[in-house]
Amino acid sequence: MPRDLPGQLAGKTVFITGSGGVLGGTYVRRMLAAGARVIASDLPGARAEKLKADHGGNPAFAFLELDVSDEDQVTGIFARILDMGLQPNVVLNNAAITGELLMGAGKPFPDFANTSVSDWERTLRTNLTGAFMVARQMDRDIVGKWPVKLINVASMYALNAPHHEIYEGMPFRSFSAYTATKAGIHGLTLWLAAYWARRQATVNTIAPGAVFNGHSEEFQRRVGGLVMQGRMAQPDEIADAMLFLCSDQSDYITGQIHHVDGGFNGW
Ligand SMILES: NC(=O)c1ccc[n+]([C@@H]2O[C@H](COP(=O)([O-])OP(=O)(O)OC[C@H]3O[C@@H](n4cnc5c(N)ncnc54)[C@H](O)[C@@H]3O)[C@@H](O)[C@H]2O)c1
Repeated sequence: MPRDLPGQLAGKTVFITGSGGVLGGTYVRRMLAAGARVIASDLPGARAEKLKADHGGNPAFAFLELDVSDEDQVTGIFARILDMGLQPNVVLNNAAITGELLMGAGKPFPDFANTSVSDWERTLRTNLTGAFMVARQMDRDIVGKWPVKLINVASMYALNAPHHEIYEGMPFRSFSAYTATKAGIHGLTLWLAAYWARRQATVNTIAPGAVFNGHSEEFQRRVGGLVMQGRMAQPDEIADAMLFLCSDQSDYITGQIHHVDGGFNGW
């Protein structure tokens, strides 16, 4: 069972990209409960509206529209936050084009042979260039001014290959650009952790395992067979680790990839 640690993030101001997804929404809820001030962001649309409906009445919650693939929007993001009188000390590069997102939009990526350069580049632009642009803007606007933590979000499919056969007959599949960007994001973590280490900034990667989100019994069985603990994760179990990384308890940890995957990566 996930455990709430009241006050774990008291005094923290957390800025999250792509906050309206299954994990982002969980982080927002758990961080507010842990005493953080949360600046959520996402593309405009139903996920953003749900976040605002869920938390709009909470004075510790704010929402900003942000497309991380848009350089002008990212360039202005910390100025907007500072103008609100807020000083983010934790930033989560969480936004991504994911298999779930594509399936939900009725546009799963085609098989590898039919993957277009534009699909590949669109994924790189959001998942990797977007994270780079957010980090670059942190460097320009906040790093060195007060202690800050950057957490980049990778995946179990960053340093490990997918078992392609588990997707046979499923309405979704893993796609090449996803793993390429998730491996790349840890490269960004390593580079930046060293670059910012003497400027009161830590940088870490979290690599979540397969998170249950209404998947079929058959898919759960297939994934479970690849995981030491034999099952998919609950979103709150990823949030438990994320909250730790956002908290003061992680102050001496930088440049690491944190696998939260029930043992998938160990096999
Ligand atoms: N759910 C999982 O099983 C899982 C496993 C490993 C890693 N992850 C990673 O965790 C993170 C969150 O995943 P999730 O499951 O909540 O995904 P999700 O698909 O439910 O949500 C992704 C969010 O990113 C947003 N987004 C997409 N493009 C954007 C853009 N250009 N600008 C701003 N926001 C944009 C979407 O609107 C959406 O709210 C992602 O980085 C994902 O790759 C998820």
